[in-house]
Amino acid sequence: MSERPVEPVLRAPADDAEALQLLQTGEIDLEGRMLDASNVTLVGAIRTESLAAECVYKPVAGERPLWDFPDGTLAGREISAYLVSEATGWRVVPPTVLRDGPFGPGMVQLWIDGDDEVDLAEFVRRDDPALRRMAVFDAVVNNADRKGGHIIPVPDGHVYGVDHGICFSVDPKLRTLLWRWAGTKLPAEAVRVLEGLADGLRGDLGERLHEHLTRREVRCTQQRVAEMLRTGRHPEPSGDWPALPWPPF
Ligand SMILES: Nc1ncnc2c1ncn2[C@@H]1O[C@H](COP(=O)(O)OP(=O)(O)O)[C@@H](O)[C@H]1O
Ligand SMILES: [Mg+2]
Repeated sequence: MSERPVEPVLRAPADDAEALQLLQTGEIDLEGRMLDASNVTLVGAIRTESLAAECVYKPVAGERPLWDFPDGTLAGREISAYLVSEATGWRVVPPTVLRDGPFGPGMVQLWIDGDDEVDLAEFVRRDDPALRRMAVFDAVVNNADRKGGHIIPVPDGHVYGVDHGICFSVDPKLRTLLWRWAGTKLPAEAVRVLEGLADGLRGDLGERLHEHLTRREVRCTQQRVAEMLRTGRHPEPSGDWPALPWPPF
């Protein structure tokens, strides 16, 4: 009998820490491109000697310039959104890293398999605590693109958000499907999380964001948090910017 090389046993990352390790060090094998995406969004397999998963890779070289986001990169905004998400403890954004890839530096994010059973159009209208946390998160990062396709409920009930390339503008640009709590009192848990963010933004988190965002963008993030803590309420549409994404899904 001829000796066959033993195939390594690969498994999916067991938690976010393993996912980050895989995303940071794994070898990327591209499989396709998301054709409905506005920038170059590639999907591929990523693997180390022991871990494997699917990932999204958005090379900086594939970014279309945007008149209203003149500084930095979309990948840098994606990472910044991930850092804020981590600071909230809400795990809104899937594990995301900035690294070199087949087309140069870019953001690499864990691919999330959504729950096919969920009717997204119905789901996004629900009074769901996870969606409500996402609404607070979006207000913090000033998300200009929270459409239905950027909301991914998974079978265990957790809800992920993706596509944070156009967050952190210095102008009010919150554009989202998640307005149902606009003007209502923030849950006590959200207030606690916002207080933690306010602290973090004055220190470590602020410095880490500044690696990807301008000082002014970081300052405006602090101000959005401060404003929510001052009013104690979910923000309302500003009136001079379309409040709803189009198309909505
Ligand atoms: N991490 C992810 N897991 C699963 N699906 C994703 C993920 N990131 C993006 N997608 C899917 O790919 C589509 C295109 O990606 P997106 O990030 O929206 O690209 P673009 O910035 O070009 O709009 C999204 O609408 C979503 O359906
Ligand atoms: Mg998109």
